[in-house]
Amino acid sequence: MAPRFQAPRGTRDLLPEELGRWQWAEAQARGVLERYGYGEIRTPLFEDFELFARTSGESSDVVQKEMYRFKDLGERDLALRPEFTAGVLRAYLERGLGGRARIHRLWSAGPVFRYGRPQKGRYRQFSQINCELVGSPAPGADVEMITLFVDLYEVWGFRDLTVKVNTLGTPEVRRRYRDELFRRLDPYRDRLSEDSRRRLDTNPLRILDSKEGIDIALMKELRSLRADQVPWLAEMLDEDSRAHWEAVLAGLEDVGIAYEVDHSLVRGLDYYTHTTFEVHDRALGAQSALGGGGRYDGLVAELGGPPTPGVGFAIGLDRAMLVLEERGAAAPALPAGVYLAAMEATHGAALALARELRRTLAVEFDVEARGLGAQVKAAGKSGARLLVILGEEEWTRGEVAVKDLASGAQETIPRAGLAEALCARLAQAPTSGGGARRTESR
Ligand code: HAM
Repeated sequence: MAPRFQAPRGTRDLLPEELGRWQWAEAQARGVLERYGYGEIRTPLFEDFELFARTSGESSDVVQKEMYRFKDLGERDLALRPEFTAGVLRAYLERGLGGRARIHRLWSAGPVFRYGRPQKGRYRQFSQINCELVGSPAPGADVEMITLFVDLYEVWGFRDLTVKVNTLGTPEVRRRYRDELFRRLDPYRDRLSEDSRRRLDTNPLRILDSKEGIDIALMKELRSLRADQVPWLAEMLDEDSRAHWEAVLAGLEDVGIAYEVDHSLVRGLDYYTHTTFEVHDRALGAQSALGGGGRYDGLVAELGGPPTPGVGFAIGLDRAMLVLEERGAAAPALPAGVYLAAMEATHGAALALARELRRTLAVEFDVEARGLGAQVKAAGKSGARLLVILGEEEWTRGEVAVKDLASGAQETIPRAGLAEALCARLAQAPTSGGGARRTESR
């Protein structure tokens, strides 16, 4: 019988055995972020709807059709965050960070919400690791961001990633390009997909990264007719934008990041200026973006703050974990531990001993106080490396029996100093076999 309640469409539960990889990835990422000098910032899961509408852009898909918007009991117009950047910048302004230091490096991680059509790698609640470098207009900031972005994937075992990069220039360049694109594409309006016809009037740039076959074919045809039929924005850059773009590419070469210029990379959020970037993975099919970001020099001012440049990115953690799983990357092993087995007479003593050992070691213990045979069997399945048995006689003598489940070797060791003795044995490499994961034994 199907359970009465199911997780809402587009959401899912992550069970302990699935979370091992996530927790490992988050810990690795935290290490990289700390070494790059980024500080963690935690902002609310929901904010004023208007904050997201202003920042993501009224015409963006996120605002038009993907927002979890609701009224609270006080009739406030709120929305679950569809991304981190808006909330982080709201906090930057509200908490006066700009007055404390010129440059801030901030990261966040957690769930974000978008009401999209669920499919492989696309969920309505998903997790991002998000980074922002606020306060510097320098191309070096873009280069640091892209380097950090790649280093995070590399610490998870991704190799040979190619970053797609593009430039959108200043808002002024972007506006000129937008008009130009409209002028060139309007005569072909009828041949565009329905979404792109709407975008032609709201944000024609988004037509460039449409995934619809008919849009892709039309753009290809127009560019092959005459190269200048539909120019790329990079061909219309002003001097400053070009200098910024060239400095970013030179920096990426210096640092040794492989990149590919993709002129159609305009991104789904409207706040980008100058550099945009993404990484993709074939394993994800249509939802192939593993992460992306870019520069947003007008965004803080858009929120009512002083003109403040910034650059950032977000990594889709669900997608990264999916790819690692599909590639069969082994889930990181938990530290092998101890199974503590007791007899009826020593069960009480074992309770206290388990508590003591758990200050330093991973210890499994049978809360049901089953017979010794059942406990020994459970120990074999548990993945514990050592089985410690509190036999009545040994315990009275101040000793315990210890069996190395990997090698089968048995010994009797003193109760005094037991934690240290077990730690020393666990630190030695197992002589044969032995699983390292701890799982419930039934
Ligand atoms: P974004 O490209 O909208 O950028 O999202 C970043 C990543 O989140 C995507 O590349 C993808 O991996 C993941 N993602 C997006 N939607 C879904 C979904 N429905 N299910 C699963 N994963 C998804 C941003 O969010 C910007 N705030 C990044 C940024 C920060 N730009 C500047 N600073």
